[in-house]
Amino acid sequence: MNRAPGILITGAAGYIGGSILADFLSHTNLSAAATLNAVVRTEEQAQALSKLSVNVLRFEINDEAAVTAAVEQNEIDIIVHAANSSDPLLVINLIQALGRRRAATGKPVYFIHSSVTTLFSEEAGWPHGMLKDTDSIYEKEKELGGTHPVRQTNLVAVEKAEECDVTSFIIVVPNVYGRGNGECRKVSILIPALIQAGIKLKKVHKFDTDGSPPAAHISDIVALYGILVDRILRNQDVPNGKNGYYFAMAHRAPWWAYMQAIANSLYARGLVVDPELEIWPSDEEAAEALHFPAQFIRAMGTASGGLEPVNSYRLGWQPLWNDEAFLERADEEVQAVLDLDTIRTSLFDQLLRPAMD
Ligand SMILES: NC(=O)c1ccc[n+]([C@@H]2O[C@H](COP(=O)([O-])OP(=O)(O)OC[C@H]3O[C@@H](n4cnc5c(N)ncnc54)[C@H](OP(=O)(O)O)[C@@H]3O)[C@@H](O)[C@H]2O)c1
Repeated sequence: MNRAPGILITGAAGYIGGSILADFLSHTNLSAAATLNAVVRTEEQAQALSKLSVNVLRFEINDEAAVTAAVEQNEIDIIVHAANSSDPLLVINLIQALGRRRAATGKPVYFIHSSVTTLFSEEAGWPHGMLKDTDSIYEKEKELGGTHPVRQTNLVAVEKAEECDVTSFIIVVPNVYGRGNGECRKVSILIPALIQAGIKLKKVHKFDTDGSPPAAHISDIVALYGILVDRILRNQDVPNGKNGYYFAMAHRAPWWAYMQAIANSLYARGLVVDPELEIWPSDEEAAEALHFPAQFIRAMGTASGGLEPVNSYRLGWQPLWNDEAFLERADEEVQAVLDLDTIRTSLFDQLLRPAMD
């Protein structure tokens, strides 16, 4: 009898990974067609996930031996990596483990990486302007090189997968917003940080330049991962490897208009002194207030980027949220932060460390 394919979701205690897991569990066809495994790294997180119909594994993805054992023992065929976009070592460990399984079983194995849209903006050093996800992005990234950790991780994902005979995909994730459905972290990163800073400073700030970056609601983001996994489970041939970039952009997020909507919501709740927006005095002060790495703050706060998603829509992705709903429902984001923003993200710990040492 053929066994059901094994799926491993990393970052399952996080905002995106936790929401992907909840979404996969809610789709009976997907959870019936595959065995779901989820990686967390603390006992508390394992406890939180233990009530779900998922095999909860606890290890550090930095630990090569632990990753190899988990992939082998749990017969993992597909990894959805939503734990980190900027650490090549984690990607190497996960892909090598899949490669060993591929060699042992002769069956195809798949790696879905999560990257970041801001990488493809002028402010992050991207020189090519308008870009479709069907363009030769890998070649352009390779030619550009450089030290950006997210770009290095993208390149490692494609190259290591090719070397290990693993079929790879890169979902390029934009600014995500909305309540997550995971068991642990339930809010996103940038927008909650901007709201929290507004509450702390009693004044909402904006950057000196307006930006309109790609964005998507968490429900639309998880739907895209679900469609891709569904295609894999049906053995459908979709763009992969060097051609396997998927821009998960549903709409744009006009920053100044959005920050004004946030300011209005916070003012109506008596959480800021007035609804007028103030310009951050400097990028450094913004980075400090938001607890983000200073070298990336300009791109995070002002970039627009000329992205055009084609592959995602060709897969059949139909995001439900648009820019109008995003602006009109900003108050829901404030409420979500007030209700749920209890666990800080560890995503920038490594990037902030050199500055802290
Ligand atoms: N949220 C967004 O708007 C957005 C936008 C673009 C791209 N992304 C990318 O998407 C990914 C997920 O984002 P997110 O918002 O879901 O972040 P998150 O809520 O901080 O989730 C990340 C999760 O991964 C876990 N993790 C990190 N390193 C690990 C390791 N070495 N071993 C085991 N687990 C590890 C973390 O564990 P702990 O909880 O124990 O720290 C956390 O639970 C990130 O790479 C991020 O850069 C996010």
